[in-house]
Amino acid sequence: VIELMILVTSSRPGRAGPSLAQWVEPLARAHGEFRVNLVDLAELNLPFMDEPNHPMKKDYQHEHTKAWSRMVEASDAFLVVAAEYNFGFTAVFKNAIDYLYQEWKNKPVAFVGYGGVAGGTRSIQMMKSVLTSLDMMPVNDAVYLPFFRNQLDAAGQFVPTEEQNKAAAKMLKSLARWAVTLRPLRSPGA
Ligand SMILES: Cc1cc2nc3c(=O)[nH]c(=O)nc-3n(C[C@H](O)[C@H](O)[C@H](O)COP(=O)(O)O)c2cc1C
Repeated sequence: VIELMILVTSSRPGRAGPSLAQWVEPLARAHGEFRVNLVDLAELNLPFMDEPNHPMKKDYQHEHTKAWSRMVEASDAFLVVAAEYNFGFTAVFKNAIDYLYQEWKNKPVAFVGYGGVAGGTRSIQMMKSVLTSLDMMPVNDAVYLPFFRNQLDAAGQFVPTEEQNKAAAKMLKSLARWAVTLRPLRSPGA
């Protein structure tokens, strides 16, 4: 079984991030290989990075960091629901990443981007350059949702197209393959 963490990366009241996570979460569960843990960074509510030591040392002082460390440590793969703010990722996302170091290493990450014309592309590109510095493996098969707002129903739920469901399935397949492939790199002594 692959422990998958789905991350919601926006935190403002009324945000759309959770609706999009609610679309991919059942797809990830239906895939069969994943055990899914949905983490909403708004609920996680980490303060601005307040650890005195470089996370590389894993010498954490705060309970919120230790809890976050355990959650990420226990994950084999990540699916980031990527909001795009001012042509980049959200500050909340970067903050959550910066808290830890070893916990991210040699794990694959896939993306569902959403936004206006670019569908979250610029946010995801920026994430890739940061996440590879942590030895994470971004999978190329992503889902981009341009003008996603047109696909929200009256209740705010995302109504996908057939193509979007197919793209999500392809992404999940690729993510699962990378999770299995990278596992030996994380074994003790590797
Ligand atoms: C501060 C801010 C900056 C934004 N900048 C972008 C942007 O650069 N590109 C884009 O496609 N949409 C942008 N948008 C629109 C967002 O795509 C849209 O508001 C989306 O719902 C944001 O995700 P959220 O609802 O989960 O917060 C921005 C929205 C906010 C609030």
